[in-house]
Amino acid sequence: MKKVLIAIDGSPNSKKTLLEGASLAKKNKAKLTLVTVAQTTFEADLNENEIKLLKDAVILKARVFLEETASALKKLKIKADAVLREGDPANEILLAANEIKPDIIIVGSRGKGKIARFLLGSVSRKIAELAKCSVLVVK
Ligand SMILES: Nc1ncnc2c1ncn2[C@@H]1O[C@H](COP(=O)(O)OP(=O)(O)OP(=O)(O)O)[C@@H](O)[C@H]1O
Ligand SMILES: [Mg+2]
Repeated sequence: MKKVLIAIDGSPNSKKTLLEGASLAKKNKAKLTLVTVAQTTFEADLNENEIKLLKDAVILKARVFLEETASALKKLKIKADAVLREGDPANEILLAANEIKPDIIIVGSRGKGKIARFLLGSVSRKIAELAKCSVLVVK
């Protein structure tokens, strides 16, 4: 295993996903990449200016989260690349995986979503179904 890609969304279970992924990467001496997608697809009834404000805020929040995560890992002496993308989370994670070509993608079973109708969130489900490599779903 040479490359590990961890997708984290800043939800409470991101920490567990991150630590499991980082330990798998360390055990295998694999290169570690973190990906966070700033979800800039909104369904709200907003005008162009409002959408722009909201997008900027969402992107800033994701960037701060990713930077804080990368520096927390650095303190643990774990090296990782951090990739920030914008758009639809599942699509962007799959596109990032097409570029990075990891041996495994690590996701949490659930994320920030508040409607816990299913055991898996829509993003983890789509990645498990459509990724070209193995997927580890952290519970
Ligand atoms: N924006 C994101 N950026 C990076 N990873 C993400 C993002 N959204 C989800 N993920 C990954 O997918 C996992 C599962 O999250 P998912 O979004 O599928 O569940 P949910 O938020 O509970 O449900 P839903 O989004 O369908 O309402 C997360 O733990 C994370 O690993
Ligand atoms: Mg979600």
